[in-house]
Amino acid sequence: MNLLVTGSSGQLGSTLLKQLNSSDYQVKLTSRKKPEGIEHVEWVYSDLLTGEGIEEAIKDVDVIIHAATSPIKNSKIVEVSGFKEFLGKIQHIKHFIYPSIVGIDEIPFKYYQQKYEAENLLKNSSIPHTIVRATQFHHFVENIFISKPLFKRYIVPGNVKFQSVDVSEFANHLIGLVEKEPQGRADDFAGPDIITLREMAELKININNEPNKVLSISLPGKLYKSFSDGKNTNPIRKMGNITFEEYLLNKMV
Ligand SMILES: NC(=O)c1ccc[n+]([C@@H]2O[C@H](COP(=O)([O-])OP(=O)(O)OC[C@H]3O[C@@H](n4cnc5c(N)ncnc54)[C@H](OP(=O)(O)O)[C@@H]3O)[C@@H](O)[C@H]2O)c1
Repeated sequence: MNLLVTGSSGQLGSTLLKQLNSSDYQVKLTSRKKPEGIEHVEWVYSDLLTGEGIEEAIKDVDVIIHAATSPIKNSKIVEVSGFKEFLGKIQHIKHFIYPSIVGIDEIPFKYYQQKYEAENLLKNSSIPHTIVRATQFHHFVENIFISKPLFKRYIVPGNVKFQSVDVSEFANHLIGLVEKEPQGRADDFAGPDIITLREMAELKININNEPNKVLSISLPGKLYKSFSDGKNTNPIRKMGNITFEEYLLNKMV
């Protein structure tokens, strides 16, 4: 089985790579920056923005896990129009696995709307596929919202809820899909607990014994409301076991 992982230098891609090291699959990787320490694995430069390198990346591949994404820069092209062209080139693929995000059809955020468009492109294609939505990764929430205190305060929209999941558990789940029948839209993969950003920041302060405090703010608008209402969560799909607290504790080891 020849398996291609796109976005191999990213958070999900590099975690997939670690876990695939011990598999029997013939693994190929693609991204624009070459990940470090991959002398034993085939890596191909490719760019979804320009299409460069795509033919070489997909050559002789049976299954693709598509972890390439660009939420900020050129997102419309990488997520939608470039993705559409990519799909046009991979009609021979036996299984295309597309990691997506819980609640993207209900949250008014441009990147999520583009991912929803991509899901629909895939659904309407003839490519055998599995779309699996996960909740936000632990490290993503930490890095985006509670990475740097300002004047000893983490200033956060405190009522926003997350059900974050460990990227290693999601990567393992995706690898488990490789040899399964394509499922179309599969069940969501969400983290073990639903907690507010305020509670997440407090956990970080306690675990790291930080002198910081949390300053909780409210934000106007539909985006803030959808996260406060927990549209990005799925309480009946608590599939991950590693809690945000355990993720923080593991980082200290
Ligand atoms: N982060 C989360 O919390 C989360 C939660 C649920 C689902 N997901 C989904 O999981 C997937 C992976 O997310 P991630 O957080 O691992 O992303 P990430 O860390 O930002 O990695 C993105 C990858 O895409 C590659 N890339 C960016 N622009 C590209 C381009 N023009 N052409 C080809 N490759 C390009 C990047 O490598 P180069 O720059 O080297 O090309 C990188 O390897 C995405 O579909 C995302 O929506 C993420």
